[in-house]
Amino acid sequence: MECHIIALLGSPRQEGNTAILMREAIRGVEEAGCTVEVVWVPGLSIKPCMEIFACKAQPRCAIKDEMQQYYDKIRDADGLIVATPVMTMGVPGALKSFIDRFQVFYMAKYERGESLISSEQRKVRKMLLLSIAGMNIKNLFSGLVQTMHAFGEIIDCPLSDSLLRDDMDTIKDLKTRPELLKEAYAKGYALGDAIRMAKCG
Ligand SMILES: Cc1cc2nc3c(=O)[nH]c(=O)nc-3n(C[C@H](O)[C@H](O)[C@H](O)COP(=O)(O)O)c2cc1C
Repeated sequence: MECHIIALLGSPRQEGNTAILMREAIRGVEEAGCTVEVVWVPGLSIKPCMEIFACKAQPRCAIKDEMQQYYDKIRDADGLIVATPVMTMGVPGALKSFIDRFQVFYMAKYERGESLISSEQRKVRKMLLLSIAGMNIKNLFSGLVQTMHAFGEIIDCPLSDSLLRDDMDTIKDLKTRPELLKEAYAKGYALGDAIRMAKCG
């Protein structure tokens, strides 16, 4: 049985430090026996949620843009990696718009009481969050982590583990910190392994 994970990259830089961290985690996930599809979120042509609320009555979004295919992809995934820098103390805009568009899942689950995720999938799904930030101040990741917890609840893919690294303005290049790359690999492997075990036993 195949285990498939989606990795959402929230950084505009496809070769930046967030991407480096994400790739190490993906290496771990793949070595644990899962497949991975990367979605570079800032590259998608998607609108923010426009509060049309068609999703109140039906499990679809009224905005017909590139987002449509991701509803099925996220619904069918066995797990998620979210890899993102902190921007203005929170989630970067493109990724936040992507997340807000899952109001479709929110309405299904909380308004109509019918989660779009099957009960079997709900036992399997987990999210790993990888995030970096330039500064070194208190509560740098709290907004982002709160948003990811909410996103995980909405899509029935709870945030189960995270790797959060501040002080990137000093570190500059993540490749100079092999211990962080090792940690990302280990967390990716653990995610893949847990999902494979939950799905296949
Ligand atoms: C628009 C913008 C806003 C940012 N806001 C913050 C912030 O509020 N706090 C912080 O610690 N770093 C902030 N940063 C720094 C990034 O989190 C940091 O440079 C990160 O390493 C970038 O990741 P990347 O290599 O994937 O691009 C910001 C960067 C940008 C471009």
